[in-house]
Amino acid sequence: MTSPILDLAGLTLEVNHLARGVRFYSQVLGLEAVHHDARRGVAEFSVNAHQTLTLWEPISRQRNDERLARLGARGASHLHYAWQVPEDSLERCQEILSEHGLPWQAINLGTDEQPDVGVYFFDPFGHGLELRAVNLQDERQPYFPPWTLHRPAHALPVVGLREAALAFFDFEAMLERLPRAYGFALAKTQQDRNFAQFTLAREPERDGNGTPQRWLYCWDPQVGLADMLGGDHALLRLYADVDAVERLVQAAGLEHGRDDLSLVVRDPEGHVFEFMPQTQQLPGWIGK
Ligand SMILES: [Fe+2]
Repeated sequence: MTSPILDLAGLTLEVNHLARGVRFYSQVLGLEAVHHDARRGVAEFSVNAHQTLTLWEPISRQRNDERLARLGARGASHLHYAWQVPEDSLERCQEILSEHGLPWQAINLGTDEQPDVGVYFFDPFGHGLELRAVNLQDERQPYFPPWTLHRPAHALPVVGLREAALAFFDFEAMLERLPRAYGFALAKTQQDRNFAQFTLAREPERDGNGTPQRWLYCWDPQVGLADMLGGDHALLRLYADVDAVERLVQAAGLEHGRDDLSLVVRDPEGHVFEFMPQTQQLPGWIGK
């Protein structure tokens, strides 16, 4: 089956101190805050023209986003996720992290002949971040290719969001449900652990060697590489053929809602997926 899912549009992280989060993501990642509402506990950053990173600070008796509140959406806790950076920038990225006083760890995920290095570090809230170099000329392009943007010299030269890793207690049920109930394209499982990788695109693809594709990883609640955890109660936004996803979600009987902007679905494990059409332009959409 061709997947109705086109690309990764955004991630929302739960943070316990919004101002600290805005400072970290502005200074270390060089992101531009396009929406900042301390009263609601919300800050949204544009990553590039098509992807966003959002921070939600939970506040008693308040909703971070009225539209998503009915489905119990929260920002993710301890989410492992990855950024795309240009080829040949990883050494400079390591220097930048050290200049900010952030410990990091580099792991070669490729081979000796064809290295594919992930650089791992943590934000102040326990989210596990990774930097992966992408070949901007690679023929395996996502629906919205990464954008090279000007970032301040002291900030990481991120060009896109690459992946998110979510925890699922019932791994086998997840493996059956995600393709059937949403249409996610399964790319890979592993023999030695409960680990599945989905390509956020029409067709499953092979990962590795600088691909600029986007990915969803799903694990049982294990500690992965570099002590990274899959996120709990994550909120992911995806570009998709929304009508096609809605048909699957309805057939699966999952709790969902739809308005002019998007289809929002609550997964039985507490994650919330928001599907929006690729014609919905960011960041004009943000904060509406
Ligand atoms: Fe990763």
